Amino acid sequence: MDLHRYLLETTRIAVLTGAGVSAESGIPTFREAQTGLWSQYDPMTLASPEGFAQQPDLVWRWYQWRRELVAKAAPNAGHKALASIQQHLPEFTLITQNVDGLHQQAGSSDVLELHGNIHRTVCSRTGSAIEASWLSAHAAAEPPPSPHHADGLARPDVVWFGEALDECTLQQSFDAAQDCELMIVAGTAGVVHPAASLPVMAQQAGARVVDINPEHNEISRMANWYLQGTSARWLPVLAATLEKENR
Ligand code: APR
Repeated sequence: MDLHRYLLETTRIAVLTGAGVSAESGIPTFREAQTGLWSQYDPMTLASPEGFAQQPDLVWRWYQWRRELVAKAAPNAGHKALASIQQHLPEFTLITQNVDGLHQQAGSSDVLELHGNIHRTVCSRTGSAIEASWLSAHAAAEPPPSPHHADGLARPDVVWFGEALDECTLQQSFDAAQDCELMIVAGTAGVVHPAASLPVMAQQAGARVVDINPEHNEISRMANWYLQGTSARWLPVLAATLEKENR
């Protein structure tokens, strides 16, 4: 069956997005050799609990820089198309590995943020939320002390390498993968688990998978359909198909 027809017959869609979806909003992806966020840095220094324990100031400044980058960014046509698809389908789940909040800014609701959100800050010891007012009262060049624990520091509410994902968010993502008829995967290299296992899980449970990515990878190889190109190009095409049917 072709993708067009399958899309029109589908009532339950789950979507998995990665850094590529925000690339056209000006936010670099992680693993691209020349331009990726990790190209000049060791991810273990900047995105692990050990790295933070060793160089908290460096890690804090890196996240401040990324927060500023994200603050300047706006949702692109791919983010907007997903918000539109949600309007047309009763059962729709958007799962993202992105921490930039651009899906919500585009109008998506109930987004499952597997890797957290860079706009939130928590105590490194207790995980309790820290308010923006507390942060603005402290110097920006180093992580402020936590108001919740004497040995705690403020840290971004994102999942670092070696850390567990939020159990409830993960369970909801597994449920959506196992329950959907179509999983749309966009802008992920498919190398970080458990996110990368969601398309496999969906396919094993009987769903079909469509992958959108300029580059071939493990996911494009296992997908039922591979749309080579950017998410800002292809996601609006899928949204327009559903809109035309006026569902
Ligand atoms: N549209 C769609 N895909 C794109 C675009 C685009 N405009 N530009 C790049 N891509 C693709 C790349 O080809 C690549 O496959 O997006 C993917 C980005 O891969 P990564 O940088 O590895 O990002 P991601 O898969 O989201 O990484 C997963 O790893 O570093 C951790 O926690 C971090 O959430 C992140 C996770």
